[in-house]
Amino acid sequence: MNSKLEAISTRLEHFVKHKDILGLQSVSRRVSSRTVKDSLVESVVVAREDDKEKLQRMLLSDEDGKKNHMEVLTILGMGGLGKTTLAQCLYNDNAVQKHFDLTIWAWVSDDFDVFRVTKTIVESVTSKKSDSTNLDALRVELKNNLRDKKFLLVLDDLWNEKYNDWNHLIAPFTSGKKGSKIIVTTRQHRVAQITHTFPICELNRLTDENCWCILAKHAFGNEGFIKYPMLEEIGRKIARKCDGLPLAAKTLGGLLRSIVDVEEWNRILKSNLWAHNDVTPALRISYLHLPAHLKRCFAYCSIFPKQHLLDRKELILLWMAEGFLQQIHGEKSLESAGDECFNELLSRSLIEKDKAITEEKFRMHDLTYDLARLVSGKSSYNFDGDEIPRTTRHLAFLKEYLCMS
Ligand SMILES: Nc1ncnc2c1ncn2[C@@H]1O[C@H](COP(=O)(O)OP(=O)(O)OP(=O)(O)O)[C@@H](O)[C@H]1O
Ligand SMILES: [Mg+2]
Repeated sequence: MNSKLEAISTRLEHFVKHKDILGLQSVSRRVSSRTVKDSLVESVVVAREDDKEKLQRMLLSDEDGKKNHMEVLTILGMGGLGKTTLAQCLYNDNAVQKHFDLTIWAWVSDDFDVFRVTKTIVESVTSKKSDSTNLDALRVELKNNLRDKKFLLVLDDLWNEKYNDWNHLIAPFTSGKKGSKIIVTTRQHRVAQITHTFPICELNRLTDENCWCILAKHAFGNEGFIKYPMLEEIGRKIARKCDGLPLAAKTLGGLLRSIVDVEEWNRILKSNLWAHNDVTPALRISYLHLPAHLKRCFAYCSIFPKQHLLDRKELILLWMAEGFLQQIHGEKSLESAGDECFNELLSRSLIEKDKAITEEKFRMHDLTYDLARLVSGKSSYNFDGDEIPRTTRHLAFLKEYLCMS
């Protein structure tokens, strides 16, 4: 034991010596008092009033030239531009909720599977789990449940470009009442062409001013930037780098919230990471500025499948079990250290509250999830039936996902 300790301390002395030779300095990052106080900023949706009004008019219209009583509104735009957010605004609107007898939200994703999507919709309509393995039976059940109801269905994040698949998926919906609507959100032009019946709503990038508005809201909270005039100029320049993407503005705002230092803001503005384009640079920068323990907690989230509903308590217990919180909990209990980590990831928008459901559940945006997968280097891996990578250290196997495919 003694010799082991001696060896470790010799190695540490060696590192300290080299640190001085290389001129490395230890930087203690100042953390703003703003981080904890009001870490959960109520998100504001900026600059989409016109789109919302236009789409709402379409949603509430009952004139319908089609025989099958079903019209489709398609929202098109690149990742992180705000399609889901706009669809959520419409979905949660009081007038919209009142107008329809039934409202259903289904997340589709790139892994399109008519059976899985139909089953999700049936479960949502009937409010109970289905153990059916027969697509035809599910379609009949869906048809019966929709009969004579005016419904609104949101198919969020549709990728499949095959016309036949689309027709197959929506066939049971023709039994709904006149005025029923489907909202589709997609990144693909081709999908928009296939699905839309109303004119396609193609979202524009936000202006620099609007990006600044989102960034400032997340960086300064409700008190605004009045007290920090020296940060405004740099902040506006950083907002320009967001390229009109609200996701980038929000995530950067979350990062800057924890830093009060002009120099640090400048360093972020001048960072050469903006040139990378494998993942949205704003997301990459946010990750790189996380303290080491949060990097681990964040990367670990890729152990779940994409768009998995995260449970705060469960995730904290998993972090505890993996030993991620050992070094930081100090006087605090491990649970409250985990709670702080969770809040910190929330305040940086790396985890988000799911607004479509009333329960306290959370999700990662799909682009943020892609980043978590990338930085985890498959050390946290969700088993999807493929070969398990050699680098995997934490593995999850979710029965419900595998049973469905
Ligand atoms: N108009 C807006 N104002 C403020 N924040 C916004 C706005 N639009 C989107 N956001 C924020 O940006 C993030 C990304 O938005 P959203 O998830 O709607 O993008 P998306 O277009 O659906 O992306 P994807 O194609 O990857 O699904 C969300 O966290 C959302 O809160
Ligand atoms: Mg989306």
